[in-house]
Amino acid sequence: MKKVLKITGYILGGILSLLLLGALYINFTGIPSYDVPSLNYHVQMDSQSIAEGKRIASMVCFDCHRGENGRLEGNMMFGPGNPSAFGEVYAANITQHKTLGTGRYSDAELAVLLRTGIKRNGQYAPPWMPKFPHLSDQDLNSIIAYLRSDAPELQASDKQHPENKPSFLAKLLCRVAFKPLPLPEGAVNAPDPSDRVAFGKYISTAKVECYSCHSLDFAKVDVMYPEQSEGYFGGGNGFDEGHGIIYSANLTMDEETGLGSWTEEQFVQAVRYGLDRNNQPLRQPMKPFGALTVDEVKAIWAYLQTIPKLNHAIDRGTAQ
Ligand code: HEC
Ligand code: HEC
Repeated sequence: MKKVLKITGYILGGILSLLLLGALYINFTGIPSYDVPSLNYHVQMDSQSIAEGKRIASMVCFDCHRGENGRLEGNMMFGPGNPSAFGEVYAANITQHKTLGTGRYSDAELAVLLRTGIKRNGQYAPPWMPKFPHLSDQDLNSIIAYLRSDAPELQASDKQHPENKPSFLAKLLCRVAFKPLPLPEGAVNAPDPSDRVAFGKYISTAKVECYSCHSLDFAKVDVMYPEQSEGYFGGGNGFDEGHGIIYSANLTMDEETGLGSWTEEQFVQAVRYGLDRNNQPLRQPMKPFGALTVDEVKAIWAYLQTIPKLNHAIDRGTAQ
């Protein structure tokens, strides 16, 4: 009997030491690195692409990367005053600075980062920097053309942020849950705008990504297969805006808990002007997507008619 206890003790001890070693390893090695996929890629610069890239960036990149002076020199995302379980994180300086910004990235390196999440030094950009696996090649080109353009907000800023200090949780998640995405195997094309449903799906899941905020939980969002995200478009994702939590709305067509009794006009007003159907302002992090055209928002509406209704009542919280 004693012997059995002793052996069990050794085994448990062994497992505990392995767990401890594993935890120490993850803590000291930090966010993992990968080989940077090689890609032959050169951006096509033209005024139409630059304008479209700016439009996309204004909806998708500015929130995180715009500094107080209006330049895209980055900003604190989580840290003192805005604590998070992920540690201390700064959105990078993406002005054209040659050593601190995108000036040190080649076109191909930018494309690889935006598609896969692998930075030019091989380190994985954790989940707080979005990835764009389904963005069309043309829209990807537009974003990169814009980053290379002479737009004033992109001119070199020498803003240097403190180094990111991801928490143990963030490091662990980047080992077990979040991995770089594969580069697309062939061309990625946006659907034709005349195909309303497909076009609306493209805008809301690939280009502007309404679905990730409007599904249940960022940790359960499936970036490669958006429709497999838990509670797809059923809302309930929580946002801590520093003064209480605000939960996203159910955008499925459920009559009771979603948008089933809304009109298309009310939806367009909510999305483009940030006003709900009682003309009350929607709260951050929902923002007016004034840069989306009426036609694009109507296409999203058409797409939302086609996805499964979820009966999911949400207490959106009273924080302002
Ligand atoms: C939700 C916030 C968020 C959004 C939205 C966002 N980023 Fe980022 N981005 C970050 C953070 C945080 C980092 C730093 C990641 C790291 O190094 O750990 C980053 C890193 C980067 C880098 C790497 C910079 C470097 O020095 O290696 C580039 C380039 C970049 N982002 C471009 C973009 C573009 C272009 C968009 C819009 C299409 C965008 N980001 C949208 C948060 C965001
Ligand atoms: C950063 C996260 C985020 C993104 C991105 C986002 N939303 Fe929202 N949305 C929210 C939150 C949170 C609310 C709830 C706001 C409130 O209760 O005041 C909301 C509210 C709404 C509402 C109001 C619904 C109601 O019942 O009152 C609509 C409509 C909506 N969003 C549509 C969209 C569409 C379409 C997109 C993409 C173009 C989008 N949202 C992108 C977070 C987001």
